[in-house]
Amino acid sequence: MLRGSSPPPIRAGTVLVKLSLCLCGALFTTLSVLLEQRDKSVNSLTPPAYRRLGFQPLSAVPGSTLQEVFLRFLFWFLFLLSWLAAPTMKLLKAAVIFVLVPTLTPALALEPLSVGLAIGVASALTGYLSYPRFYCSYVECCPRAGQRLNATALKAQLDNRLFGQHLAKDVVLKAVLGFSNNPSPKKPLMLSLHGWAGTGKNFLSQILAEQVHPAGLRSKFVHLFLATLHFPHHDQVKLYKEQLQNWIRGNVSACPSSVFIFDEMDKMHPGVIDAIKPFLDYYEEVDGVSYRKAIFIFLSNAGGDLINKAALDFWASGKRREDIQLKDLEPLLSVGVFNNKNSGLWHSSIIDRNLIDYFVPFLPLEQRHVKMCVRAEMAARGYAVDEKIVQEVADEMTYFPKEQRIYSDKGCKTVQAKLDIHEDFVMRDTNTRG
Ligand SMILES: Nc1ncnc2c1ncn2[C@@H]1O[C@H](COP(=O)(O)OP(=O)(O)OP(=O)(O)O)[C@@H](O)[C@H]1O
Ligand SMILES: [Mg+2]
Repeated sequence: MLRGSSPPPIRAGTVLVKLSLCLCGALFTTLSVLLEQRDKSVNSLTPPAYRRLGFQPLSAVPGSTLQEVFLRFLFWFLFLLSWLAAPTMKLLKAAVIFVLVPTLTPALALEPLSVGLAIGVASALTGYLSYPRFYCSYVECCPRAGQRLNATALKAQLDNRLFGQHLAKDVVLKAVLGFSNNPSPKKPLMLSLHGWAGTGKNFLSQILAEQVHPAGLRSKFVHLFLATLHFPHHDQVKLYKEQLQNWIRGNVSACPSSVFIFDEMDKMHPGVIDAIKPFLDYYEEVDGVSYRKAIFIFLSNAGGDLINKAALDFWASGKRREDIQLKDLEPLLSVGVFNNKNSGLWHSSIIDRNLIDYFVPFLPLEQRHVKMCVRAEMAARGYAVDEKIVQEVADEMTYFPKEQRIYSDKGCKTVQAKLDIHEDFVMRDTNTRG
């Protein structure tokens, strides 16, 4: 069940900044009134042309000082609020109001210099505070339209961190860069990642998400759905579909380049995912919202057995793993997943309408890849890489087929847990020696 409602399209931070600026502007004007009261010579600063237009020195306004101060505060607060809060209101319109309002309220004498200064300060501050670089260094911002992905950084991340997945690397890099370089994509990017357990599907989607939104999975623009957690009950498919649509609509309205990751697709009840079909299609807009900059990623074990079999056949015929091409696996996957009742995409209109841009196969990992994972994990924990431990951890993993022991049963998934045990031994060893 999805919790929470769709996010509001207006950012609370911006509203707060504007409100506080209005308050500052009003306080500033009020202060100028008090100063005027104290020092009547300020009135001499009012140019004669303004006096002729109806601006009066404060001393000439009837009524008690407290009343005046309150009225001026209220007036300027409301005026600045409407000026700053209206996003389309340009300076020219504001200037017109500035000239017109005093003639409508002759009782409220306006001293143009202090007021002009107040508006100037307020607008300069608003301009500065809403300057994206300043604002976005404190609050996470949705990337600007036209902002491109850093291709070199994405490639470096994939090359250095994702092991044994030459196909997934190439396909994702090509797909994402093509999509990001296109200023006006016809539809959102839709990738479906398939493979055996622990081969790096979540890992890759995390790397990708970090490239689009630096906070990665913690970003408020990256949304991870788990079939067993968010859509557990078979009899609530209708409700899930409605919630999913609302959630996606709300989030894409707030940030067009939102990323949606659907994990455990093979455990998704048939039909749930069809709810997102209207958003994936080639529409300019749906109900006033454009989904064409969004990224949708499916993660699934469905088809993993097909990929494993193909990889094993390659190995048996003496071919190199790196020679396996996308065309050897992609058609196999799309048909396999469409006809598999437990794929979450069984007879799905999403496949039927060719809305999945790429089926990305994840190959089963060999022992050499498991070792690479162990080394990376050791380095991440700040240890010098110890080849003895690397071999021990790799040997503890189980492999298939039983006789040849080529591919890791769980990919790199249990590497971290296995290394924890070794870490304990190393620490105990160090303590006894110490
Ligand atoms: N190809 C890989 N290269 C580098 N590290 C990997 C790779 N595959 C897995 N890992 C490591 O193993 C961990 C678990 O992998 P991940 O969660 O991505 O597997 P998965 O394919 O999503 O598996 P499952 O289908 O069981 O969900 C990752 O966080 C990463 O540390
Ligand atoms: Mg996973």
